[in-house]
Amino acid sequence: MADQAQSLVRKIETREAVVGVIGLGYVGLPLAVEFADAGLSVLGFEVSTEKAEAVNRGHSYVRDVPSDRLARVVGAGRLSATLGYKRLGEVDGLCVCVPTPLNKTGDPDVSYIISVTESIRDTIRPGQLIVLESTTYPGTTRELLLGALTQGGRLTVGRDFFLAFSPERVDPGNQVWTIRNTPKVVGGITSACTEVARALYATIVEQVIVVSSTEAAELTKLLENTFRSVNIALANEMAIVCDKLGVDVWEVIAAASSKPFGFMRFTPGPGLGGHCIPVDPHYLSWKMKTLDYKTRLVELASEINAEMPRYVAEKAANLLNEHGKPVKGSRVLVVGVAYKRGTDDTRESPALDIIRLLAERGADVSYHDPLVPSLRQEGQELASVPLDDQRLSAVDVVVIVTDHRDVDYDLIRRSGRPVVDTRNVLRREAPETAAATASN
Ligand SMILES: NC(=O)c1ccc[n+]([C@@H]2O[C@H](COP(=O)([O-])OP(=O)(O)OC[C@H]3O[C@@H](n4cnc5c(N)ncnc54)[C@H](O)[C@@H]3O)[C@@H](O)[C@H]2O)c1
Repeated sequence: MADQAQSLVRKIETREAVVGVIGLGYVGLPLAVEFADAGLSVLGFEVSTEKAEAVNRGHSYVRDVPSDRLARVVGAGRLSATLGYKRLGEVDGLCVCVPTPLNKTGDPDVSYIISVTESIRDTIRPGQLIVLESTTYPGTTRELLLGALTQGGRLTVGRDFFLAFSPERVDPGNQVWTIRNTPKVVGGITSACTEVARALYATIVEQVIVVSSTEAAELTKLLENTFRSVNIALANEMAIVCDKLGVDVWEVIAAASSKPFGFMRFTPGPGLGGHCIPVDPHYLSWKMKTLDYKTRLVELASEINAEMPRYVAEKAANLLNEHGKPVKGSRVLVVGVAYKRGTDDTRESPALDIIRLLAERGADVSYHDPLVPSLRQEGQELASVPLDDQRLSAVDVVVIVTDHRDVDYDLIRRSGRPVVDTRNVLRREAPETAAATASN
């Protein structure tokens, strides 16, 4: 290993290294706190004044990071946030956790990565490690970062500075699989890059998995999330099939899940949400289009999943019809607007589409979500309504979109109101079946 690499690894192992995290969002803030907890000094780089100030006050805006934990590392002087990039030169290792959304035409928007790369290029010094964590298409680290950072050959990667990709696997709200016990995949441009990045993550995770290139690491993340998208699409299609055949899809899934090999349980739902699974497969499809290959299965899965909110809205309309009511003027209560259980994140949530589709047809839609007190929808601010007998007796149909734990499902069950239960939570949480399905 080159001298620079060896001395950087030593610095990391002795906790003398300063770690920078660019983008203190759902991914960056937990990561920054984890490094600080491991005894490293951490500098967070943000563009949002509000977030930087909150971090420096020890006030967390990410549910998985309790404020007291954040306040502890901030108070100990191990973590601080800064606006702009003036202090980039101070860090030894830098993790880039900026957003990678889709643009209006559904193509990857890597503008955040490009803008950050320009700032790193202007401040890079020998002995620094840069790791891209943002989910992106295979080739990004090499094509967008490497060229810019070598500065026309002035710096040599693997000797003067180190560059790697390591996908973030954080699962917001998951209390079992945390940063620490979820293996971290790392792939560098050179083997020295990989080795330095491995040493950095070894300070916070139990297991680091090394792959041979940045492209393999980039593709690993896309495979993981495309795997979920495709299997969720299959479960969603199976739900439609079962509806048409008059068969209970949940019974079929439970029975198939008894097979101890060759089957993995996925469940249908109202559609995909969040920043990852609805977005990441498009990064793969886009890249492959540039190579003249159409990823048919991947795109079909995205299409099926994207149609689910409309399917759910239609189910609610049909249920109202069965009760002799038109959608127009009916009161609809949506339970859960976060994109999944245990999070307050509503980005890309199918609930937003379901609310919009029903409101467009004239329904009077309200929502209840214990984790989302208010919601901006079509320029309008909606507030979560309390869930009580009085409210339920006044609604015409309940649509359960998110199966948060902290909801009184028994109240909904006892109300006898018509329900579209996209998560099967009423039966799952029923006292007499909870024990039977607890292992699902
Ligand atoms: N949220 C998840 O569960 C999750 C899981 C795995 C991977 N990812 C990936 O991680 C990346 C980040 O996702 P996220 O959910 O944390 O996004 P986020 O929007 O919560 O956080 C991104 C942060 O970056 C900041 N930012 C934007 N531009 C910046 C810049 N130029 N300089 C400094 N800060 C900047 C934003 O203000 C924001 O705080 C994305 O590529 C995403 O696909 C997310």
